[in-house]
Amino acid sequence: MVCTVVAGSFWGDEGKGKVVSYLALKDKVDVCVRTGSVNAAHTVHHQGRRYALHMVPSTFVYGGCRLLIGPGANIHIHQLLKEVQETGVKDRIGVDNQASIIEPHHSAADKNDSYLKSLGTTGWGVGPAVQERAKRSAKLAKDVRELKPFLTDVAEEVNTAIDADKTVVLEGTQGLMLSLYHGSYPYVTSRDTSAAAICSESGVGPSRVDRVLVVYKAFITRVGAGDLPGELPKEEALHKGWFETAAGTGRERRSAPFNFDLARRAAKIHGATESAITKIDILYPSAKNATSFNQLPTEAMDFIAQVEEATCVPATIIGTGPGALDIIDRRNSFSTCTS
Ligand code: IMP
Ligand code: MG
Repeated sequence: MVCTVVAGSFWGDEGKGKVVSYLALKDKVDVCVRTGSVNAAHTVHHQGRRYALHMVPSTFVYGGCRLLIGPGANIHIHQLLKEVQETGVKDRIGVDNQASIIEPHHSAADKNDSYLKSLGTTGWGVGPAVQERAKRSAKLAKDVRELKPFLTDVAEEVNTAIDADKTVVLEGTQGLMLSLYHGSYPYVTSRDTSAAAICSESGVGPSRVDRVLVVYKAFITRVGAGDLPGELPKEEALHKGWFETAAGTGRERRSAPFNFDLARRAAKIHGATESAITKIDILYPSAKNATSFNQLPTEAMDFIAQVEEATCVPATIIGTGPGALDIIDRRNSFSTCTS
């Protein structure tokens, strides 16, 4: 029974939703804490439906999982209630008393402020809500009538689960390059997105974590403003099958080849113990739907080996298609990095 932190590597959209939903089904995750806020959309394919979750943890796919939103999160009440209904989880979701609230004026400020616009924010109001929290004038979840049925002490629940040897996932949002501290400032989000921050937002101390899973995508995408090393023209991205639109805002994602230096840095700062590499089937179409490593073409195996060498952690989970179970799971048989 383990506590795993799942963290993004680049500018988000690496497929954390898919990886977390896989862990939920495969490991029967007992408790999941989602951190961050409504600006991130985690895509989950489940029972023929596609969900773009902005608030509800991606482990909802496993009916036995207690779903928690941590004290470091910022709650968009309308979006939360909508997703709770869509996913049918009202009896097993909890919101920390001290999570703070995004109010309509925060979203308005995010959309209308010319500086925030120039950064290409998602417009959900997260940055202005975080400012309010830092000013110590934010409204908290415990003060909101609609949230009363869900209120809980997340740190207490999750630490009790760890004490009882339950399987726990801390679901991070965005990627390290969007971190307020470690990312491409000022073109970043309004909080730290590192594995340590995911623990802090959940109320879990570093010594209680067993695994840190950094999620890479086989190529890089970015929405919003700011430099993207090796950025491809849109036509080339379309040609390669790398062109994507954002799950949350529908904006076009810019794309670039995998960056080994950034991958190394992300693994280091997260303190990764292992990695997931998603969308390997987009780089190597014959990898599609593979569920064992030896079904992969040699080029894909070589790419995975290069990522392992650059990051010094084993790539234990390989994504080969959009479904939660389109995964090669090597957690029991990985090769360790010797460099
Ligand atoms: P904000 O987080 O809405 O303030 O936006 C700041 C920057 O982070 C913008 O470049 C956004 O596109 C980016 N961003 C925020 N959340 C996500 C995400 O979940 N995926 C990708 N980019 C994101
Ligand atoms: Mg996303």
